[in-house]
Amino acid sequence: MGKLRSVIAGVGGYLPERIMTNAEIATMVDTSDEWIQERTGIRQRHIAAPGERTSDLAVKAAERALAAAGMRGADLDLIVLATATPDNTFPATATQVQAALGMHQGAAFDVQAVCAGFIYALSVADNMIKGGQARSALVIGAETFSRILDWTDRGTCVLFGDGAGAIVLKAEEGGGNGHDRGILSTHLHSDGRYYDMLYVDGGPSTTGTVGHLRMAGREVFRHAVVDLAAVVAEALSANSCSPDDIDWVVPHQANKRIIEGMSRKLTLPADRIVVTIDRHANTSAASVPLALAEAVADGRIAPGMLVLLEAMGGGFTWGAALVRM
Ligand code: ACO
Repeated sequence: MGKLRSVIAGVGGYLPERIMTNAEIATMVDTSDEWIQERTGIRQRHIAAPGERTSDLAVKAAERALAAAGMRGADLDLIVLATATPDNTFPATATQVQAALGMHQGAAFDVQAVCAGFIYALSVADNMIKGGQARSALVIGAETFSRILDWTDRGTCVLFGDGAGAIVLKAEEGGGNGHDRGILSTHLHSDGRYYDMLYVDGGPSTTGTVGHLRMAGREVFRHAVVDLAAVVAEALSANSCSPDDIDWVVPHQANKRIIEGMSRKLTLPADRIVVTIDRHANTSAASVPLALAEAVADGRIAPGMLVLLEAMGGGFTWGAALVRM
């Protein structure tokens, strides 16, 4: 058997129906549409309906990705789901998705790296495919951050939204040079010293409650620009690529100014960066696959293109992936 690599066979995204505008948030906390747009680029976000769970969003995104790949749940042998807002403390939300998709074989589990979760999940699935442990994998980022926000804290509640994105990976043999389709490389980092910059003040082994998101916004901002630029440079260097070789960058959608700062540092042109923050806000682990799904659906990202994915989140955790679509 030749060398194995993971090829993206389909992508899909799902956003809950309800849209919450900045104007609506301004009726709840002391803020304004102008402030939110100017400081973050966000105009609106989607909010899950009461009773709508992370797994419900994930299943809808997964069904779309599977349809794009011409596959069914029964064809899969792996689900890796990234979330920081699981349905329950256990079992893994991935197993709920597995059951809903009619997949009774293989393995399904969650990965937790907050906003960097999708890059982590992609790396895990890619390595399992390369190692021969799976032939086809569903990689999902799904979140209901609206459930862990403190809706009285204007410094955080304006920034996030709910959603899900998914991709299907299939094992292919051969290749190995940068012109073949597939995941070329993934790069993961974390540094737990920054725990209290961005965390949830609850959990089963601390307070026994779900808790709320807490963040030192300015510090997170500063680290995000530096760390993301470094991991993107690492991904480019590992593949002997320059920014000019990249067709599209699909960044984590945390703040328009973080995306601009990172792209300035790397001299990436703004017209090759997929931006959804204005409509989706920060959907944490869902943001990269949602943005990818949008750009694939509208034809901006096409087979053969070189695409760079990057994200950063609480921990801190951060990472990047270079993919030939
Ligand atoms: N509306 C109006 N005023 C606000 C709001 C708001 N929603 N939020 C904060 N302010 C006020 C503050 O109270 C402060 O007022 P003060 O000067 O009277 O004390 C003032 O605005 C400036 O506050 P800063 O926090 O310094 O504002 P900054 O320009 O840093 O923007 C923001 C804040 C948007 C949170 C920014 O720091 C940021 O985006 N940080 C990154 C955080 C992030 O993206 N986290 C997501 C998770 S991590 C990740 O995904 C990478």
